[in-house]
Amino acid sequence: MSDINVVPATQDDLEPLAHMHGRAIDFPDLMRRQNAGLGVLLIARVKGLPVGTVYARWEPPDEPYLQRMLPGTPLLYRLLVHPYCRRRGVATKLLAEAEARIRRRGRGAVALGVALKNFDAIDLYTKRGYAAWRRYPIRTTTTALLADGTTGTVPDRCWIFIKRLRSGS
Ligand SMILES: CC(C)(COP(=O)(O)OP(=O)(O)OC[C@H]1O[C@@H](n2cnc3c(N)ncnc32)[C@H](O)[C@@H]1OP(=O)(O)O)[C@@H](O)C(=O)NCCC(=O)NCCS
Repeated sequence: MSDINVVPATQDDLEPLAHMHGRAIDFPDLMRRQNAGLGVLLIARVKGLPVGTVYARWEPPDEPYLQRMLPGTPLLYRLLVHPYCRRRGVATKLLAEAEARIRRRGRGAVALGVALKNFDAIDLYTKRGYAAWRRYPIRTTTTALLADGTTGTVPDRCWIFIKRLRSGS
């Protein structure tokens, strides 16, 4: 797809995003963080309609272990593409834009967590030059939709993937 436009999300995107992904993801919180300069919520649009997101976080990670081991490395979260728009290069474009912004901030690497069996995403990251940072998964938390309909933080395990960024990569 050649007409994919990736830009920072605005307040007007919150309703379409909730519609697209349901309420399981706290986009209003990500928007508040973006407004406070703590990260950027990128949104991919095709013909004006949102089809995907990724959040690049400038704040240190929540996990003390990652804070210690990957200091100053921005993390990517919430890479999501609408099921109808997959395998058309939307995630590739979102990642490329997030990486370009991270490079412009003078950072030399980017990291992210991926669920142990999310082989689609692992294929995508490998193709874009990411590699597993350790041979073992780490303990982390994830945001999940709870039985009462609210979102909450639950324990999880994931691989950490990392990409070294060179200018033009
Ligand atoms: C993973 C995800 C973000 C990929 O988005 P996408 O826009 O379809 O990805 P792209 O079209 O940019 O894919 C680029 C490459 O990644 C790999 N890839 C992506 N999806 C794949 C799949 N379902 N199976 C195998 N390889 C896949 C392929 O190598 C693909 O290149 P190709 O289509 O030329 O073969 C999307 O499937 C998604 O939103 N999944 C649910 C949420 C999720 O798992 N997010 C990742 C959290 S870590």
